[in-house]
Amino acid sequence: MHKDVLYIAYSEDEIRRRVRELAAALQSEYADKNPVFIGILKGAFVFMADLVRACGFPLEVQFLKASSYGFAAVTSGTVEVSMSVAAENRHILIVEDILDTGRTLKKLRDKLLAQNPASVKICAFLDKTERREADVSADYTGFGCPSEFFVGYGLDYAERYRNLPYIGVLKPEIYLPDGS
Ligand code: PRP
Repeated sequence: MHKDVLYIAYSEDEIRRRVRELAAALQSEYADKNPVFIGILKGAFVFMADLVRACGFPLEVQFLKASSYGFAAVTSGTVEVSMSVAAENRHILIVEDILDTGRTLKKLRDKLLAQNPASVKICAFLDKTERREADVSADYTGFGCPSEFFVGYGLDYAERYRNLPYIGVLKPEIYLPDGS
């Protein structure tokens, strides 16, 4: 385990198993729809790579960049979205590593809905439901999770730890300057 990680919240095995289950559920909904899976950069890149390989049906892959945190540990409240996906008449699945306040996904979903897609649904690997502020919820969730500082499996703190193969809780002294 990485020295900055307090404990492993979701192991590689647990993640692998849950991704397979999500793919099976997505198969029932999307097998004959040639959906567009839209990964939200950067955090979703690892989950997206696992998810699409577990889905044995035709689909397309796109990525969008949305950023709300910058280098801070808490959300800045401003969500920047760079948008270039042709969504008209397409079945869209937004793929996220984590759904927190929901501001990012609400803004993205509303922008996509303005393009008259056939459908827009959300698949979030982690879902911090107790932190929700915006009116948005995931249609597919890997794990409902508490409001801990998670890193790994695409999730970062100041751009570090994204490459950990598990999801861990970061030691507070790493992000609290006085170690309190
Ligand atoms: C994280 C995460 C989501 C968003 C969720 O991205 O990947 O996109 O925050 O937060 P919200 O529900 O409060 O809007 P971040 O802005 O940290 O960018 P990153 O994916 O590049 O790390």
